[in-house]
Amino acid sequence: MNSKVISFDSIDSTNDFLKRNWRKLNNFTICWALTQTKGKGRNGRSWFSPKGGLWFSILFKPRKIFSDVNLYTKISSIALCKFFEKLSLEPIIKWPNDIYIKRKKIAGILTETIFGESNVAVIVGIGVNINNDIPSELRDKAVSLKQITDREYNLHITLRKIVGYIFRIYNLRSKKTGIATIIKMWKKRLFPKEGEEIKVMLNDEIHKVKVLKIFENYIEVLNDKRILKINSGEIII
Ligand code: BTN
Repeated sequence: MNSKVISFDSIDSTNDFLKRNWRKLNNFTICWALTQTKGKGRNGRSWFSPKGGLWFSILFKPRKIFSDVNLYTKISSIALCKFFEKLSLEPIIKWPNDIYIKRKKIAGILTETIFGESNVAVIVGIGVNINNDIPSELRDKAVSLKQITDREYNLHITLRKIVGYIFRIYNLRSKKTGIATIIKMWKKRLFPKEGEEIKVMLNDEIHKVKVLKIFENYIEVLNDKRILKINSGEIII
């Protein structure tokens, strides 16, 4: 896929750069920054983006948007897993789309959609802890690739590899069973799975529950004969 990379030493947020400029940029433009001063996470959280991490966003300007915009996020989470799997690591996608290795978060994805008068843009922002150190207060929750493998990585090559996987998986969409294949690849790596028993934190207490069904915005679980809806923050990995 032919994509232009616009890079910065520092920017507020690579997602916001594409949001400001999407009209004049081409499909598949990538914005990459060595640091972000206002990196954004999901649910209005901020995303700490120091030097050494990989912080980038991809602009999609599809003629026809997938009816499920979450598919862009799913494609990116599979691509991140494939990158880590190639390094003989065992990543999982913690529902809905956080990437974990050894029970700690290594990457996150923030997808935003913009509707113009006649067209639409999808911005997929990806943050991966590569060579950056994790601040002590986050060390029990987050990890970097350097910490796991004890070596540093070239960020440019890493970006190219991850983007290569994203476009390869994205290209499956035009095949007849492409979307079903993408969902299958995502489910294979997903935690939790339907039917699985997991631990969740409800009202400050740990409960063992059975996963009944996974929806886009919540998971239905069985807790003591009661059916509950839980969100991602409640799942214990
Ligand atoms: C999350 O897990 O909460 C999502 C984190 C997404 C962070 C990336 S870093 C590059 C892009 N620019 C942003 O401001 N956020 C995303």
